[in-house]
Amino acid sequence: MSDPIGVLFVCLGNICRSPLAEGVFRELVRQEGMSERFDIDSAGTTDYHAGESPDARTVEVAQRRGLRLTHEARRITAGDFGRFEYIVVMDTNNLAKVQRLAERVHPDAEVHLLRSFDPAAGKDLEVPDPYFGGPRGFEDVHDMIERACRGLLDHIRSEHAL
Ligand code: 4NP
Repeated sequence: MSDPIGVLFVCLGNICRSPLAEGVFRELVRQEGMSERFDIDSAGTTDYHAGESPDARTVEVAQRRGLRLTHEARRITAGDFGRFEYIVVMDTNNLAKVQRLAERVHPDAEVHLLRSFDPAAGKDLEVPDPYFGGPRGFEDVHDMIERACRGLLDHIRSEHAL
């Protein structure tokens, strides 16, 4: 069997947006019966929360949709650029940081904004940081992540003829 297709979701702290995107995407892939074909993970651009479980508000939003998040926060590493074909970030701050790292270790890496795959995104391609906002922020973030993850999976399926 061919190598799994690597998909890495990246945000700032790796406790809110990217572990949720990881959980949502993992579930979509599972529903399509393609779990064996994918290597899915998430990481942060910082190590502020390294070793921690996802934020309680993220866990709650995920649980309401039947998703159990088991991720442990970590910072993105140089090795991730070799392991993951698709590096998918949440906002333009993440994009700048990841691109700067990629330039040094893997200049050909393709880094995508997650909402570039969200058909409802319009001009705003950011998943906003919900960390300092209220719980409603987490609901909105979940909805955009889910739409965008469906679009991302369609994109990957077309590129890989899956
Ligand atoms: P995330 O959210 O990047 O979606 O995981 C944040 C988590 C922590 C902080 C900021 C954003 N922080 O400043 O500690």
